[in-house]
Formats: sequence, structure tokens, C-alpha cells
Amino acid sequence: MSRRLTGFTPSGNLHLGNYVGAMRPIITEQASSDTVVFISDLHALTLEHDPSEVRRRTLEFATLLLAAGADPDACLFLIQSHVPEHTELHYLLECTTGYGEAQRMIQFKEKSRRQQQVRTSLLTYPILMAADILLYDTDEVPVGADQRQHVELARDLACRFNTRYGHTFTVPQAANPPVAARIMDLAAPGEKMGKSTSSPAGALRLLDEPDVLRRKVIRAVTDTGSEVVYDPQRKPGTSNLLAILASCTSVEPDRLAQLFDRYGELKEAVADAVVATLTPVRERYIELARDPEYVRAVLRAGAKRAREQASEKVRQAKAAIGLLPS
Ligand code: TYM
Repeated sequence: MSRRLTGFTPSGNLHLGNYVGAMRPIITEQASSDTVVFISDLHALTLEHDPSEVRRRTLEFATLLLAAGADPDACLFLIQSHVPEHTELHYLLECTTGYGEAQRMIQFKEKSRRQQQVRTSLLTYPILMAADILLYDTDEVPVGADQRQHVELARDLACRFNTRYGHTFTVPQAANPPVAARIMDLAAPGEKMGKSTSSPAGALRLLDEPDVLRRKVIRAVTDTGSEVVYDPQRKPGTSNLLAILASCTSVEPDRLAQLFDRYGELKEAVADAVVATLTPVRERYIELARDPEYVRAVLRAGAKRAREQASEKVRQAKAAIGLLPS
């Protein structure tokens, strides 16, 4: 059975892009593949952060993943910092990565440009991400387009380590969903919908109430002209609405475009589809959030099971790279 893994960093607010880009793709196949889903809390420390906020979001994200259907009996479900092998392997992989290679990461360039004080961990976090992936012998990593380059780095590091020190890691590949790999901001369709970077009007948050979701879609920026066509270059706002509708209905955006004569009709259909997709997740979240102790117990059990596998992989990597066994 092939292994699939993906992670979510507890900063900002989870939104429709996260849901259709990575949450739903990993969850729908959890019964037919060997699945690992985790909250990458260590990644939330790479930018200026509030400790109590990271703690709160970590529990919120875990609860939302369960609400979206992650089944702890069918997958390994855990918090990254509860499995110290992630950071142990991170160091061994840092010793396999060139400084220039880390500096070339687009997300590092973009995020460091926006910061006055750049943390070293912002430079090295793609290597931690590689450790997350390689620790579990992952074959496939369902992610949005923005994480593709990081999965490529994990591939390169796995190949390099295997060539230099003997076969140790499975070489992973990214899996991007067909139309939902880059859902754009509703208010600024030139930018991706972001957990922290989008304004409240630009992101369809998983915990938004139905009338809030509806209002955001109705107010979404569209393009000049009134024709409904799928053409992301020429009509970014309209095409984003079509991509959102496509991701909620599994119908191709080109075909959907033919069904509408005006932006208003398209927006009504998108609002209905988004509300129908996200409302069950929000309702289940409200139920689960009443029992945080249940969620914490699930996470503790997940970390315990994960450590059994992860410690063996770290042992192999340490032996291969030349460390004397204790
Ligand atoms: P994060 O938390 O920023 O995003 C979680 C997932 O959502 C995808 N995504 C999107 N997909 C479509 N449209 C969008 N607008 C959009 N915005 C975000 C992301 O591509 C991602 O798949 N570093 C990662 C978390 C991580 C990870 C890993 C992922 C840590 N270790 C190992 C995979 C494997 C991150 O911060 O994702």
C-alpha cells in the first residue's frame, strides 16, 4: 500500500484553499492508503508568534481535521512536536543540504522580504518539512501548488542521502489536485488565498458562518466585461470562482462556465456550493470542540504510534550517515 502524508501549520485561519488543496485529498483516500496527517506546530515558530495563539490554533486545527473526516483509526494523526524524531532527522538532513539550495526556496524569499527580523528557522524549515516527509517513507504528498517546491527539495535530499550513504529513504512525490491547487484570494485574485495573508473578505474560512461565506462570495472581485469564461490569465476573478465551484462539484471549470450568462448567477451558484461543502465541517467542529480532552487523547495516542515507526527510521539514518550506535 502506498503511503501518503501531509501537514498543516497552525497559524491564521484554515480556509477553503487548504480544504480542497490538501485536507480533502488526504482524507478521501485514508481508507485505501497508508495515511499520515499532522499539525506542523514547529513550522508556526518560524515567524513572529504568540505562544498562547500557537497552542490554541494547534488544538483548533486538529479538531477541524477530525471534523473534516480525518479518522484516527484509519490514519496516523499527530502533532509534529510530540514526535521528537522530526527534529532529530531535520539535523541529519541539514547536513545533506547546501546553503544556496535552502536560500533558493520561493517561500523563504517571499516571507523573508516581509520580515524585519528573519529567523534562521525560516531558512531551514523546508528541510524540517523534508524530515516530516522522509521520516515515514512517504510515497505521495498531497499539497497545494505553493508547497510543490518544498516537496521537490525533499525528493532531492532523499536521492542525495541514498546515493551517498546507502538506501535509507523512499523518494516522495507531490500530488496536486487538478483545479484546486491554488485557490485565489476573493478580494485580490492575483494573490493566493492565505491563512494569514488574506484579508477577512478574501478568504472563505472553514469556521465562517454560512451567511458570512455567502456575503464574501457575492462581493468577490470579478473582471471587466460580463462574459463568464474560464481563462485564469485574462479573467482571474471569474476563473477563481469557477475553480472554486469546480472543486466543490467535481465538474470541469470550462463546462461550468457554459452554464452561466452573468456574474451574478455564477456567484449565487458558488455561494450555494461553498456553503454546502463547508457547513457540515463547521457543525461537526462545534460538536467536537466541546470535548477538547477527547482530541488531546487522540493526539497522544497518534504520537505514541508514530514514534514506534519514526524511531526506527532515525536509527537507520544515523547509522548510514556515520554515527556510532549507543
Ligand atoms: P500550510 O499550513 O500553509 O497549508 C496547508 C495546505 O494547504 C495548501 N494550501 C492551498 N491549496 C490550495 N489553494 C490555496 N490557496 C492554498 N493555500 C494553502 C498548502 O499547499 C498545504 O498543502 N509547510 C506546510 C505544512 C507542512 C507539510 C509538511 C506539508 C509541514 N510539513 C510535510 C506536506 C508535507 C504549510 O505550512 O502548509
